[in-house]
Amino acid sequence: MDESTFISKNFKPKGGKIICESPSNIALIKYWGKYGLQFPINPSISFTLSNCKTITSIEYCPRSKGQERFNFLYDGKTKKSFENKIGKFFNRISSFCPYLENLFLKINSKNTFPHSSGIASSASAFSSLAFCVVSIEKRYNEKMTEQNFLNKVSFIARLGSGSGSRSISGPLMIWGENEFHSESSNFFAVNFGKKIHSLFKNYQNTILIIDDKIKHLSSSDGHKKMINHPFLNDRKNQARNNLKRIINAISNGDLQVFIEVVEEEAMTLHALMMSSHPPTVLIKSQTLEVIKLLKNFREKEKVPICFTLDAGPNVHLLYPEKYKLKVIKFIEQKLMHYCQNNLFINDSIGLGTKLLEF
Ligand code: PMV
Repeated sequence: MDESTFISKNFKPKGGKIICESPSNIALIKYWGKYGLQFPINPSISFTLSNCKTITSIEYCPRSKGQERFNFLYDGKTKKSFENKIGKFFNRISSFCPYLENLFLKINSKNTFPHSSGIASSASAFSSLAFCVVSIEKRYNEKMTEQNFLNKVSFIARLGSGSGSRSISGPLMIWGENEFHSESSNFFAVNFGKKIHSLFKNYQNTILIIDDKIKHLSSSDGHKKMINHPFLNDRKNQARNNLKRIINAISNGDLQVFIEVVEEEAMTLHALMMSSHPPTVLIKSQTLEVIKLLKNFREKEKVPICFTLDAGPNVHLLYPEKYKLKVIKFIEQKLMHYCQNNLFINDSIGLGTKLLEF
């Protein structure tokens, strides 16, 4: 397969409106480092989330000569930084979706999670946008199968946000070629599809908002730091080995290995940034305090809970649903005061992008 598989014919759609929603996702094996046009240096696997999502609506109509390509509103208001990102995204995808050149798009987007929560919204934002754009194409291409549609949505989302390629379906998505999952690809993410042990059914993800500010290091800059990283090759080997371990743990319900791998991945992501040139620290002292308390709680109460981190200080707690009440009580009593404005968000694993109106 090569990229030409994803080039659509050019056509001139009539006007219409589409609304869809797409969730965020949380990586268990982290995608960190990329080459070419958003290809990952190592395979990653993630839980798709459910409550933290972006809702995007696009009203489209034929574009007149010289007219701008799109107008973007976030929650009903203009937002220059998002608008610039979306402009770049449309440039990137134009050869794969040439029909967009014939359209004017009025885009409205909003998130279900608090705007200033420090949660990265690029995965849900770009996957919802990709879903809308490729749905227009599907309407004009009767030969497009459901699987081809999902692959192209993931492919297009990837060009906006690498991790966004993994928000399309769920509960578990895998992205990046590897020897342990034959359908995996660097071009798009696919549903894990294999046996998932019942322990992971409705798995919970509670996000502790340690800092609600926008990250001081963008993901793009973080990925760039991996290119000449002294531990690059070791990281590639580690990610492959951890992927193998976690695939087995998820199939067999081995929570001990699951916890070990997830936490190793979280710490590695930050260790790689701390050992990059120049060193970058993305966690805060509260992050480490919370991790210490969590480990004590796990040992003392025998609750199989673990943490993971994205490229920032917020802590994602992962645990089976049956421990929810006990965990929330623990958070309220011991962890909440480490959070900005005592904020934490409860989420659980979900099934990906959904069409709301077309
Ligand atoms: O999709 P990006 O370019 O914002 O990269 C996100 C990378 C991490 O969130 C840190 C890890 C991951 O795999 O989601």
